[in-house]
Amino acid sequence: MFTKDSVIGIVGSGAMGSGIAQVASTAGHKTIVYDTNASALEKAKISLKTSLSKLVEKQKITEEKAQSILSLTTYSNSINDFKSCDLIIEAIIENSEVKQAVFKEMESITSDTCVLASNTSSLSITSIASACLHPEKVIGIHFFNPATLMPLVEIIPGVATNPSIANHCKELINSWGKVTVMAKDTPGFIVNRVARPFYSEALRIYDEQLADMATIDWAMREFGGFKMGPFELMDLIGHDVNYVVTETVWKQFYYDPRFKPSLTQKRLLEAKFLGKKSGRGFYDYRDGASIPEPKKDETLAKYIVNRILCMLINEACDTNYLGIASADDIDLAMTKGVNYPKGLLKWADEIGLPVILATLNDLYEEYQEDRYRACVLLKQMAKQGKRFY
Ligand SMILES: NC(=O)c1ccc[n+]([C@@H]2O[C@H](COP(=O)([O-])OP(=O)(O)OC[C@H]3O[C@@H](n4cnc5c(N)ncnc54)[C@H](O)[C@@H]3O)[C@@H](O)[C@H]2O)c1
Repeated sequence: MFTKDSVIGIVGSGAMGSGIAQVASTAGHKTIVYDTNASALEKAKISLKTSLSKLVEKQKITEEKAQSILSLTTYSNSINDFKSCDLIIEAIIENSEVKQAVFKEMESITSDTCVLASNTSSLSITSIASACLHPEKVIGIHFFNPATLMPLVEIIPGVATNPSIANHCKELINSWGKVTVMAKDTPGFIVNRVARPFYSEALRIYDEQLADMATIDWAMREFGGFKMGPFELMDLIGHDVNYVVTETVWKQFYYDPRFKPSLTQKRLLEAKFLGKKSGRGFYDYRDGASIPEPKKDETLAKYIVNRILCMLINEACDTNYLGIASADDIDLAMTKGVNYPKGLLKWADEIGLPVILATLNDLYEEYQEDRYRACVLLKQMAKQGKRFY
């Protein structure tokens, strides 16, 4: 369906749109970037030039390649320039009504075969597609930030999406050098769902004063093998983004206590302590501020890692149990989308499913909260002595 000659349209030239455009033109496609904001378009144009110059300097690409990428990329303030597109990826503000209006307009000016994709992180693809006369050609193609560097792309068919379109999109994005996984159209897709306990269970441990943030971060790095601890990562992502994703996923899952946000993080957001970008978050990034020291207690560290990891694995199990994604795709998503040291289901096999189940049952016993209910698949597999791989 798609070839090297396929023309790619990108709606929205912000952080994601400009990155996705660079990926598409680097793969050799004629790429048209459209934005309603002229200064955003100008900024995207300059940022592509800067990014390519850096790549040439580092000898990652040749000067000829940089010139070819630049000549393949055009910028437009008129959606009518999308007439010749074979695939359009939308990356505008995260608002369902605005996205639906844009999809309706895109459908009205493009050919019957043009595939319309959304890069949404949290909205339903099925709902966006419902604005179109032909929802079967609407799909989710979810890149991670920064799109030029992050290898993972989640492909999300909506309820009405033609399955062959999903396969063609997967092949195309693979040909761009990305790693693709298929996910059912459910809140958070794979990564933004499965990763929730990394933050929320750490916050719960902190709120319960079982450990301070520096100790939890240290434990997750030293004993969990994660590149960053939960609190430093939340500060880096920004609480305006991280808290909102948690709250959105929780609400969309009908307030399932497993996804319940933390008031502590909400207060930080209210205080505009957004994290690194605002100079203060959980940590203080202002000049002269002191860095808190972790309490290097190995027993406590192992308790922290085990508790957070078991909650992560439980979510990965449920994602598989509910048919959101295959075990392989869940593991790929978490290693390639958020740099986890190991796939969670592979990790589960290594630890032993009965051991994980016992930890979850202990937590459930202690708290009597639905948040700690073990996934049915985990229970069944542990009982039958099965493994994911
Ligand atoms: N930033 C991330 O980390 C990230 C990661 C994955 C997915 N996403 C998703 O990607 C999308 C874009 O996010 P972003 O961070 O790039 O946003 P952004 O604010 O950086 O850019 C959005 C751009 O869309 C333009 N725009 C807004 N309404 C428009 C319209 N009606 N028509 C054309 N252009 C319009 C704006 O002028 C702006 O330049 C969102 O759906 C978001 O959920 C973001």
